[in-house]
Amino acid sequence: MSPEVSPTAVSPEVLAEVPECVAWRRHLHENPELSFQEFDTTDYIIAALEDIGGMELRRYAKTGVVAILRGARPGRTILLRADIDALPIQEETGLPYASRNPGVMHACGHDGHTAMMLAAARILSRHAGELAGEVRFLFQHAEELPPGGAAELDRLGVMDGVDELYGLHLSSNYPTGRFGVRAGALTSATDRFEIDIVGKGGHSAYPETAHDAVVMAAQVVLALQTIVARRVSATEPAVVSVCQVEGGSAYNILPDEVHLVGSTRTFSEATRDRLPALMEGIVAGITAADDSTYRFRFIKGYASVINDAQLAAHTRELIERSFGKGATFDIEPLMPGEDYSALQGHCPGFFVELGARDEARGITCPHHNPHYLMDEEALPYGIQYWCDLVRDRLS
Ligand code: NI
Repeated sequence: MSPEVSPTAVSPEVLAEVPECVAWRRHLHENPELSFQEFDTTDYIIAALEDIGGMELRRYAKTGVVAILRGARPGRTILLRADIDALPIQEETGLPYASRNPGVMHACGHDGHTAMMLAAARILSRHAGELAGEVRFLFQHAEELPPGGAAELDRLGVMDGVDELYGLHLSSNYPTGRFGVRAGALTSATDRFEIDIVGKGGHSAYPETAHDAVVMAAQVVLALQTIVARRVSATEPAVVSVCQVEGGSAYNILPDEVHLVGSTRTFSEATRDRLPALMEGIVAGITAADDSTYRFRFIKGYASVINDAQLAAHTRELIERSFGKGATFDIEPLMPGEDYSALQGHCPGFFVELGARDEARGITCPHHNPHYLMDEEALPYGIQYWCDLVRDRLS
């Protein structure tokens, strides 16, 4: 365990669960499944939950599960979310429990999220008599693949009657056992755009007879950058990236069309909503100037994860009570998207980052990488966090 955090903070009851938690995590790691295809994973989770007992299990969509634990007295309903899916990556860690599914790997730590939540469910199910209210443990499918499992579960009503929402992500960016806390926007909204510049092709020797889609596309790529530089406030983070440019078939033929594909990142919903019109205005203006047309599509991905300021402050105090003053730190906004945001909007929520990085043991590789490692020493911290949080909110 990290020397920066008192190991005595982890209760004997949590420590007793760690071996099984590690076994669950390693089983899941060895048997990863892609988003929307987590059939064996879900069966495994349900079997573990049935073995724990004392909870009502509800299956949602094809591969999502909610376990409901009811306390002895009435009170709040809180939902804790763990994601369960893996990524299309060929694992190269050489671990003894490395993936047995070719081309599929738990390279984002979701195996750890699932195992920690199972362990917390087992501990808390023994203490249901002390709880006031209801806790829903959500094992969510398909975080990694838009449109994402969370949006589907939200439509199916998993958030009905929920008073508070909580999420957690392990992170190889921060030391094991330390909790990254942020109020307000935590992750960016991640959207995709597709632009077809429709000109008129021709012989490269006679450009005056054509409407050159290549030149228009080049102008569009540059002009799109002026949105961030000139249309969005300098204090407001935004990214517009053109990542694919396709067009043309020969060195001496001007193509009819050029296709541009890219992504945007924003943190405020207001800026996010402004971008499509600003982008389309540029495309419309540049193509009109050369008597040409276009097609423009803006495909919304995941919204920004927004942490409620009061819950963030309260949870920070709770973490520091459990693990000591040095256990939390302020975290900068994160550019990767997170589909937990689809569960927001019904009630206040708080999403925390838990460090799972140990430089001394070489556990530093970033997520979504064939060499990604998760520090299992972080697991007891996550289990303890979930248990302390539930006891606090349902006391
Ligand atoms: Ni992830």
